[in-house]
Amino acid sequence: MKTIIDCDPGHDDAIAILYAAQHLDIVGITTIFGNQTVEKTTLNALKVLTLAGLDYPVAKGCDRPLIGSAPLATDVHGASGLDGVDLPEPSMQALDQHAVSFLIEQASRHRGELAVAITGAHTNVAMALRLEPRLKEWISRISIMGGTTGIGNLKPQACVNILSDPEAAHIVFSSGIPIHWIGYETTRTVLMELGHITRLRDSGKRVARAVGDIAFYYRERQLYVNGLNGAPMHDSCAIVPLIRNDLIRYQPVHLDVALEQGIARGMTVVDRRPLQPQAVLSSVSARRPDNVLMASELDRQAIIETIITAVLNYP
Ligand code: RIB
Ligand code: CA
Repeated sequence: MKTIIDCDPGHDDAIAILYAAQHLDIVGITTIFGNQTVEKTTLNALKVLTLAGLDYPVAKGCDRPLIGSAPLATDVHGASGLDGVDLPEPSMQALDQHAVSFLIEQASRHRGELAVAITGAHTNVAMALRLEPRLKEWISRISIMGGTTGIGNLKPQACVNILSDPEAAHIVFSSGIPIHWIGYETTRTVLMELGHITRLRDSGKRVARAVGDIAFYYRERQLYVNGLNGAPMHDSCAIVPLIRNDLIRYQPVHLDVALEQGIARGMTVVDRRPLQPQAVLSSVSARRPDNVLMASELDRQAIIETIITAVLNYP
């Protein structure tokens, strides 16, 4: 499947790129602020591609949300955005084209057959949708990691990828494009554990060793910051539905992003209520039409194994 990965590498984004590259026809990587500045996430994307001998176009995207500013995830991803691993200096440069224009160009070129995986803030895709409304017809599917229906990270019940730019996320979720969505409360349970990490580090393979180092650092920071005993494969979970349909089960729901200032800003509010009969609708607000397929069940071990298999496939 032709795919653009819109991301902020970032440890788990880096692994998601390498996983996706083994299965999908990647037409490009677009970058965004988030885990670090967009300059650093772009450099990291180029380094990861160089490590793996991949030469996809990389287009640098937005450096801030549509409104205001957003914190960087330095406490988890470090000063470089990808601390804990030695990566080669890039053998190529980013395109001299903004990510928003690249997204529109590629969606036009591959009308009806382009998927976009969003694993960072939604600013690039939202800007593209506003500039070129026909994107709604051109993009066949969006797969999103971000938001939560339970525990959050940046706030009690909000996840950084949505909270970094709630207005942009609102634009994307209400675009009408078919969306596969997986929330933080689910992806934080898809863990690459120490045993998996050791397997990668001991493989004797260059890319797998680097991924082992990436996951090792990420696990340590996650343990310290979020109390997780493993490296969560958040962003690879947005790649899974583009590759296989047997690892994650989805259910149709209506999802809204809370835009009000205050404690609820950036929350993803999911309506899972049964459709009410007409008779009760005078007293109960009606459930609005479903706009996303929400991940509801998954095979965690199988997801981790498919990521590891893909990584071990590199020389
Ligand atoms: O909440 C998890 C998300 O935020 C992931 O996309 C990860 O890269 C982090 O920054
Ligand atoms: Ca990310």
